[in-house]
Amino acid sequence: MNESPRDPFLAFVADDVCRKVVAEAATQFGWNPGQVLVGGLQDAKRALTDVPTPNILLLDVSGSADPIEGVVSLAEVCDAGTRVITIGSVNDVELYRGLVDVGVDDYLLKPLGVGTLLAAFKRATAEPENIADVEESESLDGRLVVTIGARGGVGASSIAVNAAWMMAHEQGLRVALVDMDLYFGTVALAFDLEPGRGFREALENPARIDSLFLERALVRESENLAVLATEASLDQPLRFNSGAVDLLIEKLRSNFDVVLIELPRSLLPSCPSVLTEAEVIAVVSDFTLAGMRDTLRLSSLINDIKAKGQVAIVVNRAGFSPDLEMSQKDFEHGIKRPVNHVIPNDIKPLAKSVSEGTSAAAVAKSGKFVTALRDLVGQMSGGKAEEEQPSLLKRLFRK
Ligand SMILES: Nc1ncnc2c1ncn2[C@@H]1O[C@H](COP(=O)(O)OP(=O)(O)OP(=O)(O)O)[C@@H](O)[C@H]1O
Ligand SMILES: [Mg+2]
Repeated sequence: MNESPRDPFLAFVADDVCRKVVAEAATQFGWNPGQVLVGGLQDAKRALTDVPTPNILLLDVSGSADPIEGVVSLAEVCDAGTRVITIGSVNDVELYRGLVDVGVDDYLLKPLGVGTLLAAFKRATAEPENIADVEESESLDGRLVVTIGARGGVGASSIAVNAAWMMAHEQGLRVALVDMDLYFGTVALAFDLEPGRGFREALENPARIDSLFLERALVRESENLAVLATEASLDQPLRFNSGAVDLLIEKLRSNFDVVLIELPRSLLPSCPSVLTEAEVIAVVSDFTLAGMRDTLRLSSLINDIKAKGQVAIVVNRAGFSPDLEMSQKDFEHGIKRPVNHVIPNDIKPLAKSVSEGTSAAAVAKSGKFVTALRDLVGQMSGGKAEEEQPSLLKRLFRK
């Protein structure tokens, strides 16, 4: 169609402040800063009609009443292969999804930093193979499983860590273990892993949850087990975006067989959909009175929000402190439902696992803790391991 060569980059931004930042980032990236123009979607459309469109087109949609419609209309004049990065000032997951659905690569939130722009330029100019690796498995529909401690210290993290390890190592499933306890989580620590980058930022801004985010933010315990965690600074409040959580889960489910989320109780009001969408919700308690009260409160909440999955009531550390514990019968009477899994107190393998930086299941395969946990692990994976026992070839290709 068009004979003249394409520019590597062209930007239309709403104001001069934005122009300066984008021009600085363009310069640092080796592009001509003169390619950053002040203008909206209409100006971009006018300028690009009947000329070759650039490889990377950056559009500021903040002045547009209907950014999605604007981008669609602009697409009519864009050549195939032009990758579009949008910037805007609305932090809205629906807008982000809409833009991605119509073919936009990224949506960056204002105020922009040079670093954010450079990272976006890098992603947009990356070889397409990078993205294809992850998106090849987009149709997979991973099971969503949640563990939630009814009280602090009852062993919810120990259960999440070990269940994830067992599904990955014993059942051959690809598991993403997500620690939503952003300030005090211990999941990465349990595996002696340094958390990856960007998890906290992604929870504040869904625009950051692209395919490459998974590569940056997840750290691997092994080929089959990936961990998503962070150690958020204690002096920074979290500006949680519940749409970002939904998007993150969707992304993880399309790339893993099982997504196991450890959800601290304090986050329940911020992301109820984690519970409504989960296939299995394991509520972990001990046999104490306070544990009983809060197990009852949690199971009532799960009932009220009409969560569609199974609820597994798990009592951990049973026998730890007989003087403080009530009988199973009294506990069940109190919570008005049966306990589904009782896991005994079994300190040795847990202590050993801490000192070795791995799961108890790795150091005491047939110990009491691990044996008792196996039933719950089976419920979590829901027979997926047997159904999907992947052939060697299939597993090689799914890496
Ligand atoms: N069945 C068990 N037998 C013996 N010790 C256990 C058992 N389960 C967990 N523990 C130990 O109990 C302690 C608390 O466990 P864990 O950190 O998993 O609890 P948690 O519910 O995640 O706590 P938090 O509320 O602080 O996040 C840890 O030292 C762990 O090793
Ligand atoms: Mg914990």
